Formats: sequence, C-alpha cells, structure tokens
Amino acid sequence: MSPGKDRQIMSCNGKSTNVMWHKSSVDKFDRQELLQQKGCVIWITGLSGSGKSTLACALSRGLHSRGKLTYILDGDNVRHGLNNDLGFKAEDRAENIRRIGEVAKLFADAGVICIASLISPYRKDRDACRALLADGDFIEVFMDVPLQVCEERDPKGLYKLARAGKIKGFTGIDDPYEPPLDCEIVLKQMGDDCSSPCDMAETVISYLKEKGYLQA
Ligand code: ADX
Repeated sequence: MSPGKDRQIMSCNGKSTNVMWHKSSVDKFDRQELLQQKGCVIWITGLSGSGKSTLACALSRGLHSRGKLTYILDGDNVRHGLNNDLGFKAEDRAENIRRIGEVAKLFADAGVICIASLISPYRKDRDACRALLADGDFIEVFMDVPLQVCEERDPKGLYKLARAGKIKGFTGIDDPYEPPLDCEIVLKQMGDDCSSPCDMAETVISYLKEKGYLQA
C-alpha cells in the first residue's frame, strides 16, 4: 500500500510526526493474485431503514458463493467497538465515517472487497473517503428510499422515538441527509415497488464484474 496520494513517505500525519512508511515485500498485487479478485470499497449510503445492512449481507453472500472474499463494515456494528466513543453530532459522524473509510482502505489494500454500510449523511465526508482510494476503487451505492418508506418500515422503532422527541438529531427527522449527486449505483425503491435484496446484490455484482473487480 502506498501512504496515500497526498502523503509523503517521510511525513507528518496529523499528530504523528517523524514517522516513516515501511514498504512490505508482499504487495497488493500479490494478494490480489492469490485471491483472484481486486480489492475495493463498496460504500452503501442511505437513511436508517433504507436496507443498507440487508443489501450488504446479500452482497456478501452473493460474492462469497462465487468464491470472492468480502468483509462488511456496518455502522451500527463498528459503533459497538472501534467507534463506541462517538455519538451522532456532525463532528462525531464525520469521525465515524473517517475511521471507517481508513479501515475500508486497509481492507481494500488487503485485496478484500470491503462493504461499508453506514448512513454517512454528509457528502463531504463520503467524498473524503473516496479520495483515500485509487480512481474506481470507491464504489458508492445510494439506497434511494423515501423517508416515508423508511419510517413506515421503522425496523428498530427509532423513527417513532425520534418523532416523539425521545431521540434528538435523528437523520431525516431533525438532522440532514445529503444524497449523492453523482454516485456509481443508485438503487431506487418506492413503496411496494421493491427489488429483492438478492436482485439489488446482483446489480452490484454485475457492476463489479463489468469493471474487472472479480478477477486479479
Ligand atoms: S452515521 O451517520 O455516523 O453514518 P451510522 O450508520 O454509523 O451513522 O449509525 C446509524 C445507526 O445508529 C442507525 O441505523 C440507528 O440504528 C442508530 N442511531 C442512533 N441514533 C441515531 C441518530 N441520531 N441518527 C441516525 N441513526 C441513529
């Protein structure tokens, strides 16, 4: 892995000064050859209840059954560990997204197809993660589901609590969500007109195949 487009080999990274990049003798291309796939990040964004985690699981299953190595970074799950010090104010969400972006970059460098599934409501935070990866390796998937549909589903009962004022700053209710303007894949769902998670996963898998990510 290179230190990143914008970083020097001998560099000052935030508060880490006088640190040097150590190059490994086994590189990303060797790992990709071993795995017969290309590492990348599939970034699934959308409102709570839009089906991000369901798609992530269906996608992971679909790729696994084709012999491809994936790993899911789910917002809710990562907040149980690495990000359990973060809440939901804008700075915390930005840090949540930044850390997941950096971890996803490591997975992609490992040759893994990394599926990140989190609300990631701010365009600039998502774009900052995109900028961490080589062109084409960040595949943004927008779960385009109207708020009303997500709210009707309310799988965790959180919209109800947010409407009752028991959760403050809930995305879509009293906190913003900025939809992508130009992402790789849009999965649109309206009311009863829903594709199955498997169909949606196949759309993403076809994209990966077409772009050459399912071979070394
Ligand atoms: S993000 O905005 O920082 O990307 P993330 O995807 O990690 O969010 O976490 C969202 C999950 O946290 C939701 O699926 C929901 O279960 C829970 N949650 C708790 N409070 C909030 C809130 N204020 N806004 C959105 N989701 C919340």
